Amino acid sequence: MLLSITKSYLHIIKNYDEYTYSHHKRVAYISKLIAMNLGIYGKSLRVLVIAALLHDIGKIWIPTQLLNKSGKLTSLEYEIIKEHPQKAYELLKNCKLFKHAAKVVLQHHEREDGSGYPFGLNSSQILMESKIIAVADTFDAMCSHRPYRARLHDKELFEQLLGCKGKLNERVIDAFLAQVQRNKVLGWQSKEDTCQVPYLRASYE
Ligand SMILES: [Fe+2]
Repeated sequence: MLLSITKSYLHIIKNYDEYTYSHHKRVAYISKLIAMNLGIYGKSLRVLVIAALLHDIGKIWIPTQLLNKSGKLTSLEYEIIKEHPQKAYELLKNCKLFKHAAKVVLQHHEREDGSGYPFGLNSSQILMESKIIAVADTFDAMCSHRPYRARLHDKELFEQLLGCKGKLNERVIDAFLAQVQRNKVLGWQSKEDTCQVPYLRASYE
């Protein structure tokens, strides 16, 4: 039931914007890797993956022209985009099955130092699942070529991610980097039913 509703929502996202759809899949995949390194399994892992798969669903209320705008956003446009965690929460909270995932999604743009949104929560107030999605989300955004900025490359990527410590959770970043190194050693295997994450093959020295 939970999975079929999630799939239906993903289908809506796919019809709305292909990039947002593939971004959700990559973020879910990376979040899962991080969680496994942190010893998160079972129901907690399932909730995390579902929240990651739907974390930006609130963007379906934002015009795609605004999401894909190549120029700098005005402050008003940025305020509109910042509404997406709250909009996602409003959608998901009404379904009992998504009760916790809705809270995780609501907090995915909160930051350790209180500089995030929508509430400016501090580290102790942010759910661990949201901290994991925040790292996965940030990393995937750095890897992606977007109309408003070019993709970062290899070493630059990891240096920038390390530079996010303080805003993003240090333990989560380290867990992610440990997984990247481990997969490099073992050889990355992407399954067809997940998604290709080719940049995880990039060198991390
Ligand atoms: Fe987001």
